[in-house]
Amino acid sequence: MNPFLITGYKSQEYFCDRERETKRLIESLVNNRNITLFSRRRIGKTALIHHTFNQLKRGEKIIIYIDLYATRNQKEFTELFANAVINAFDSVFGRMTEKLKNLLSSLRPTITYDQFTGNPVFSFTWETDKHVETTLENMFDFLNNQKKEVIIALDEFQQIAEYPQKNMEAILRTNLQKSPNVTCIFSGSQDHLLISMFKDKSKPFYQSGELFHLEKIDLKDYEKFIAYHFKKGKKEIDKPNIELILSLSENHTYFVQYLCNRLYSTDVNIINQQVIYNTLLAILKENETFYFNYKNLLTANQWNLLSAIAKENGIKQITSKDFIKKYDLNTPSSIKTALDVLLKNGLVYFDSNNYVIEDVFFKIWLQRT
Ligand SMILES: Nc1ncnc2c1ncn2[C@@H]1O[C@H](COP(=O)(O)OP(=O)(O)OP(=O)(O)O)[C@@H](O)[C@H]1O
Ligand SMILES: [Mg+2]
Repeated sequence: MNPFLITGYKSQEYFCDRERETKRLIESLVNNRNITLFSRRRIGKTALIHHTFNQLKRGEKIIIYIDLYATRNQKEFTELFANAVINAFDSVFGRMTEKLKNLLSSLRPTITYDQFTGNPVFSFTWETDKHVETTLENMFDFLNNQKKEVIIALDEFQQIAEYPQKNMEAILRTNLQKSPNVTCIFSGSQDHLLISMFKDKSKPFYQSGELFHLEKIDLKDYEKFIAYHFKKGKKEIDKPNIELILSLSENHTYFVQYLCNRLYSTDVNIINQQVIYNTLLAILKENETFYFNYKNLLTANQWNLLSAIAKENGIKQITSKDFIKKYDLNTPSSIKTALDVLLKNGLVYFDSNNYVIEDVFFKIWLQRT
């Protein structure tokens, strides 16, 4: 098995460090403090949540993980939520408890079975939004009345701000306030939506938990992790070349993992500089279709700005005379308009006062063209 995972979470063995972060999450959760975990995309929030849940003594707590990414409205939220709750109880108790049966009979779901896993999937018929709200209330009541504490991760939480029902945040907040037995991790990418949900005085979730910004993994820890797994897989690599991997992928979790995964799967046993560059070039080549696709989707203004940010390797003063002149860009106002689009679709990211290209490999490709 390739030890460098590029999706999901397996176990501690394949998870690099994050000891301090795991400890901090556990500390908040066991003391019933809600916490909001946010970061740049693909730094490792979801994996950290699974790792934390893995470390928490299951059995002692009821643990529920929900990924809201694909939900578009209150109904889909409630359905996903109900399914996650019912399945969590099923796996905790191995069979349905009386309370769960009662809850289910009040919700009157239709039960089908997942074609692949055989797990039950519940769907519901609700006539009105009010009816959906009542179901949510019932679910929270049910969780609040458990003997064990309940911990829920709501991943991609910013999604709920996009629902057409504008009162979803308020409904959730009210339910949570009435349920002291339930503690939440809210997690999501660091976009304006998520931050404003917790920092904006007019929003229901204002100051309703700690904000926790997830940074990159410590370089030294990543070095050790990479060295350990290559050695275990009988692949030779020296320290300068591990440093090269980390520098090319900017120590950004997903890109480090991806490059290492590919290097691990090459048939050579000595990972030297040449192998690393060749592998990176192969990755860029494979992604070229996507990159050209972006070029087609963006206007010339947007594309030129993207390319300039890449070549500059990040820029602070995006409308400065020097920057405009160097890359032959348009007027400051047209730069701002283009920038908004690039930020909105996640191609550019604002990181410690710098505008940078979100995708590290795409940036390298742009720099080379
Ligand atoms: N500490 C770690 N050690 C090893 N691999 C990790 C670690 N953290 C995350 N990963 C891997 O990095 C990739 C990205 O992680 P993850 O999906 O958790 O990021 P994310 O911040 O939730 O991303 P998104 O913002 O897209 O939801 C995954 O393939 C995951 O397996
Ligand atoms: Mg995630």
